Formats: sequence, structure tokens, C-alpha cells
Amino acid sequence: MAYNLLKGKKGIIFGALDENSIAWKTAQHCYAEGAQIVLTNAPIALRMGTINKLADEIKAPVIPADVTVAADIENLFTQAMEHFGGPVDFVLHSIGMSINVRKGIPYYENNYEFTHKGFDISALSLHRVLQTAMKMDAISEWGSVVALTYIASQRVFPDYNDMSDNKAVLESIARNFGYYYGTKKKVRINTVSQSPTRTTAGSGVKGFDGFINYAEKMSPLGNASADECADYCVTLFSDLTKMVTMQNLFHDGGFSFTGVTAAVIEQMEK
Ligand SMILES: NC(=O)c1ccc[n+]([C@@H]2O[C@H](COP(=O)([O-])OP(=O)(O)OC[C@H]3O[C@@H](n4cnc5c(N)ncnc54)[C@H](O)[C@@H]3O)[C@@H](O)[C@H]2O)c1
Repeated sequence: MAYNLLKGKKGIIFGALDENSIAWKTAQHCYAEGAQIVLTNAPIALRMGTINKLADEIKAPVIPADVTVAADIENLFTQAMEHFGGPVDFVLHSIGMSINVRKGIPYYENNYEFTHKGFDISALSLHRVLQTAMKMDAISEWGSVVALTYIASQRVFPDYNDMSDNKAVLESIARNFGYYYGTKKKVRINTVSQSPTRTTAGSGVKGFDGFINYAEKMSPLGNASADECADYCVTLFSDLTKMVTMQNLFHDGGFSFTGVTAAVIEQMEK
């Protein structure tokens, strides 16, 4: 059911790779709530993924941008502002990649070249996007930026590997930039800490099946789905959450504040 929460709003959505992507669902939900969207992803992902299907469905142009390349981000904002005829109202950063995770290299043996690359894509990219937007005055007053994160930034989840460090920095950038962009232009910046979700990035984590089942049992409401995450992002882009900024917001069915559940105890007693 749509409420027209984003009527008249314009946004850029990073990271829709395929139908499972959290960004894909968020783009669909934003469109259903009345927003106009520009989609973007890395050129290689555009070649491998199925983004044109989504682009047709929600009538959105696709502008390629590798988030590690400053010129790509500048070009993205330039083209998006031309398309919309002005600045954007919201941005979704839904990007993550670790070569150490992909190659199954344990945290204590990380290859630093891979670590740098993953850090650049998964964390520093948020700073790059915000810095470019601020310089170009590309986000309108009271605009909203959301980046997706995971609780391994704050607690140890062994196989989340160097993505834990990337997410810790990502959350810190949201806080720090939230201060500067808030005082300068009333732009708000938050991270959403989502439950484990079956997507390309998510399933790349070693032992993902055990991981997601454990989280399901450890969450009083169960795991939050990608569609539910999309709904939450919609509220954060809407005017109903105007005074929320610099927060890491858990969207995890209560997992983050649960010590143990009866379901997990029962499992342990078997
Ligand atoms: N799936 C989960 O369990 C889970 C849980 C919590 C948070 N998250 C976070 O949600 C976000 C979205 O991930 P997802 O699970 O939807 O997986 P996904 O694989 O669908 O999305 C990751 C996206 O990052 C993009 N990307 C990678 N390198 C890039 C680059 N250089 N430039 C631009 N884009 C690049 C990919 O093309 C892809 O579209 C990530 O930040 C992820 O860490 C995921």
C-alpha cells in the first residue's frame, strides 16, 4: 500500500544489481511512494546485472559510476541534476564489497591491497559521494542520505571479515558528515543496520545459511526482509523523519538488543 510519502521527491539510488538487492527493492518502493529516481551502479555491474529491467519498470535513467572514481561521482550528480532540473532530495548508498571475503582470506591473514580496495568501495565511497554533493550543492535543504550497514561494525561476527571494519568507518562517516552537512544545509545522514538478507553481497559471507538462521532465531520479530528494509528507507527519505540525523538505526527485528531467546536456548539443549 502506498501513502505518497515521497511525492515530488527526487533521489539517486546506488547499488541495485539484481532483484534481490536491497537497493532494487528500495527503488521500487520509492517509486511507488511517488518519487522520481536515478539509478546508478559500477559499469561492470551494469554489464553483469539486470538493472535495465528495473529502469524500465520505474522509468529511471541509469548513469554508470564507480564509487572509487571521483570523476564518475561528479558526472553522476551533474547528469542527475540535469535530468531532474535541480538538486536531489535523497540518496541511498547500498554498496559493499570485500575481496578478502570473496577470496575466503581470513581476517588475521588479510591482503592489504584487497583491504584498501574494499575500504574504498564500501566505506570511503560514502565520504566521496557526500563531499562531491556538498561541493556541487547537489542535495536540497532537508535532503536525506541513507547508507546500509551491518551490526558486525560493533560486535564480532567472525566471517564478516574486513567488512566489519569498513562498516565501522561507514557509520562514523555518516555521523561526522551528518554534523557538517546538517549545519551547512540541514541535510540529514543516517545508516540503517539491516538483518542478514539473501542477496549477492550477503550470500558471499562464509557460513551465510547458519548466520541467517541464527539471526532469525535471535530476533524477537524474526529477520527483516529486503522489502521491509526498503519501507524503512522510504520513511527516512520522507518528511516524517526530518529531525533524525547522524544515527545508526537498527532494522533487525530486535536482534541487536537481544541477549538470548527461548528458541536459541531450546536449540542448545538438544
Ligand atoms: N545482504 C545482507 O545480509 C546485508 C545486511 C546488512 C547490510 N547490507 C548492506 O546492504 C548493502 C547492499 O547490499 P546487498 O545485500 O543488497 O547486496 P548486492 O550485492 O545486491 O549490492 C551490493 C552493490 O554494491 C555495488 N558495488 C560494488 N562495487 C561497486 C563500485 N566500485 N561502485 C559502485 N557500486 C559498487 C554492486 O554492484 C552491488 O550493486 C551493502 O552495503 C551491504 O553491506 C547487506
